[in-house]
Amino acid sequence: MSKKLLLKNDHIPNIHQLAVYRAHGGYAVLENTLKNSNPDHVLEEVKKSGLRGRGGAGFPTGLKWSFLARPEGVSRYLVCNADESEPGTFKDRYLMERIPHLLIEGMILSSFALGAKTSYIYIRGEYFYVARILEAAIAEAYAAGLLGKNILGSGFDHDCYVQVGAGAYICGEETALLESLEGKRGNPRIKPPFPAVAGLYGCPTVVNNVETIAAVVLILELGGDEYAKIGIGKSTGTKLISASGHINNPGVYEIELGVPVEEFIYSEQYCGGIRGGRKLKAVVAGGSSVPILPAELILKTANGEPRLMSYESLGDGGFATGTMLGSGGFIVMDEDTSIVKNLYTFARFYHHESCGQCSPCREGTGWMEKILHKILEGHGTMQDIDLLWDIQSKIEGKTICPLGEAAAWPVAAAIRHFRSEFESYVQNPENIKDIKHYYRLQN
Ligand SMILES: Cc1cc2nc3c(=O)[nH]c(=O)nc-3n(C[C@H](O)[C@H](O)[C@H](O)COP(=O)(O)O)c2cc1C
Ligand code: SF4
Repeated sequence: MSKKLLLKNDHIPNIHQLAVYRAHGGYAVLENTLKNSNPDHVLEEVKKSGLRGRGGAGFPTGLKWSFLARPEGVSRYLVCNADESEPGTFKDRYLMERIPHLLIEGMILSSFALGAKTSYIYIRGEYFYVARILEAAIAEAYAAGLLGKNILGSGFDHDCYVQVGAGAYICGEETALLESLEGKRGNPRIKPPFPAVAGLYGCPTVVNNVETIAAVVLILELGGDEYAKIGIGKSTGTKLISASGHINNPGVYEIELGVPVEEFIYSEQYCGGIRGGRKLKAVVAGGSSVPILPAELILKTANGEPRLMSYESLGDGGFATGTMLGSGGFIVMDEDTSIVKNLYTFARFYHHESCGQCSPCREGTGWMEKILHKILEGHGTMQDIDLLWDIQSKIEGKTICPLGEAAAWPVAAAIRHFRSEFESYVQNPENIKDIKHYYRLQN
């Protein structure tokens, strides 16, 4: 089920340059759309395609666009979320670095549909060199009349800017991103109002992920109905997966949604199996925030069906036996991996990145990190494991933004599926010298 749409030209030398991109069909969709189509038609095609946001939540893109308020005389904005700070996720970087014009073409097409005369690409601070690549591509597009006033003689005006963040994970949350873009501290806003009504500078705004916006070009090229035939069920199209961990071929892969997880892990076309021929222990399928699943549950659902790389199949069984596709950050762990150490690394990250506005998240993330540290130092008790469970259960649904849940779900899943491993750390502290060493390295 290999299907290359977004990355069909990523192997072409210098495809980041406008001349090369155009020589391979780049901006033909934009030209055709501006000449022969209209914003409503673009919106209809995106709706028909069934595209779901690729930033993590999988919200239907056409539906999100249709929520955009359109009051007379008020500016509308498109903001591209290129913050990509979710541990295990690096697919947007690959796309922007290799094919920046695909994103820019998607930005112009999406803005045309939304009636946005200005758009922003908000990119994480650590991707500074990628921001430079984007800026160079935008300059080329302006020089060629693809951005600016009266694009390609269509009468449509559009300006696109790149804004570099300061490297905070929370600025990937869409309302924190908007605050940061406005020059303020990146604290998530209380919703409602949603950005579609009051977003950037209080104006109606659509925030979409890099991959989502790039996919709009392919949808308009194929037509929404044809795009919807790719994939499986309500998981239409292709998805970029960032594959990392103990696999033979780490990297970014474009898959047709619906590929069996087993094929994705073991086939030479993708991950190429587990490093050193070891056994698979667990997978975090959608970036660090989604529940970890042990080998038997990531390969097969609780009903014994093969687990597929799709929103529905990965979610099958809820969190009791399933997980989420999330951002497609696919982290593979072999039999030698310590789940507790791994969880500690995630817990430190979420504690560090909590913005501190909500008590359950601010206090809970720090508390969970401390308990995991205590267990790893060999001073844990059985009550600590229960306490960890208790703390995580008090975060979900009680915070302004989903970072709280992102911190709680990995803890819940690790205890749910690997409780005996936590108990073994508590019962056999003499075996954890190496973990103390690991902890010192981390500090
Ligand atoms: C803590 C946190 C971090 C996030 N980071 C990102 C990110 O780096 N990139 C992204 O596209 N979405 C991220 N999101 C999701 C965004 O809030 C938003 O849902 C997304 O950008 C919408 O785009 P989409 O509909 O195209 O997926 C994050 C959410 C949270 C709660
Ligand atoms: S959940 Fe955490 S990161 Fe989100 S607003 Fe509350 S304190 Fe900030």
